[in-house]
Amino acid sequence: MTDSGRMKIEWARTHMLVSAEIRKKFLKEKPLKGFRIGMALHVEAKTGVFSILLKEGGAQVKMSSCNPLSSDDDVVDSLKKDHGMDVYARKGESNQEYYEYLNKVLDMKPNIIIDDGGDLVRIVHTERRDLLSEIIGGNEETTTGVNRLRAMEKQRKLEFPMFDVNDADMKHLFDNRYGTGQSTLDGIMHATNILIGGKTVTVGGYGFCGKGIAMRMKGMGANVIVTEVDPVKAVEAYMDGFRVMPMREALKVSDMAVTATGMKNVISYEDMKSAKNGIILSNSGHFNNEIETSALSEKSVEKHMARDNVMSYRLPDGSEVFLISEGRLVNLASGQGHPVEIMDMSFAIQALTAEYLAKNHSKLEKKVYKVPAEIDREVAVLELKGLGLSIDSLSKEQIDYSDDWQEGT
Ligand code: ADE
Repeated sequence: MTDSGRMKIEWARTHMLVSAEIRKKFLKEKPLKGFRIGMALHVEAKTGVFSILLKEGGAQVKMSSCNPLSSDDDVVDSLKKDHGMDVYARKGESNQEYYEYLNKVLDMKPNIIIDDGGDLVRIVHTERRDLLSEIIGGNEETTTGVNRLRAMEKQRKLEFPMFDVNDADMKHLFDNRYGTGQSTLDGIMHATNILIGGKTVTVGGYGFCGKGIAMRMKGMGANVIVTEVDPVKAVEAYMDGFRVMPMREALKVSDMAVTATGMKNVISYEDMKSAKNGIILSNSGHFNNEIETSALSEKSVEKHMARDNVMSYRLPDGSEVFLISEGRLVNLASGQGHPVEIMDMSFAIQALTAEYLAKNHSKLEKKVYKVPAEIDREVAVLELKGLGLSIDSLSKEQIDYSDDWQEGT
């Protein structure tokens, strides 16, 4: 088991070229020396490489899972045995264990919080306020977590600076779109072994995640329908070539539906009642409330496992609904998470933002901060280097031209 985890981590490390460059700097400069970093992330191979990088940067690190179904037990095992990492995570952990593990991380009295989904930050602001005085700030990886931070900031409840990693260009343009696009298909295909080509697939939400899923589904030959509540995004989806309609109408003709919105009850039980018989539902958003699974479970007259990770529900009218991975994020619960090169860039932003925080925390307020533009640029430059690509640069004459507002045609 340890060997398998070790191989997964090594494979990821070999393909994380941006992290490899940052590692050289971290080993030399130790910018995180003296800081305790508490993290709640999806504990799989790429995350393992990231946690090792922070340790190599001088930090003391403890990590728990940010979702009960997303841990890779082989990786957890190897992180503990081969890398001496304090990790609290188990695939299939109960809700009680989940909170126990988050609290174990917090017991280290972290100075920096690295969160995915916002649960660590929420606990510190509610049940563990005694820890606030030790915390200099942190960063948050995902759309859902950032939405929670913004709500806290608006209500003046946020007690330390938090960086919004999600909205950094080198994160959401790639991770949310190409990462979620590929890993969601990976999760669905692995769970079902069903052909995508020719199927009608509804994608709930047309943010960057929804865009990625719709694009990749289309690439595999699906007929894609998009549902939205935002009129601008709905027009965008239409002009990108997708059918747009309300969820209830879409489900009537869909073979599959995937949610990626950050909102609850995007597919309600009432929607499921009018869905096409045999529809396969899954969710790629952070929380398992995008599909109303509680009502589905309560009101169905029979349920059984149809395959590993796929539950069949019989509704009172006799129709059948399949649900993948309990409605938990399908790309990690049934797949392997985002591709390695994608997480490399996302974690690079998080590592450099942690460094920035360590150096600048005394100047920061209790706000949600954008990731500094120079960090985005640094990651882009390192990614190009890793890809072996070079690009043009502006000449002095061109720079002068862009500053000159007087020159006419
Ligand atoms: N692997 C580690 N963290 C992840 C995330 N937030 N999304 C997808 N794959 C991941």
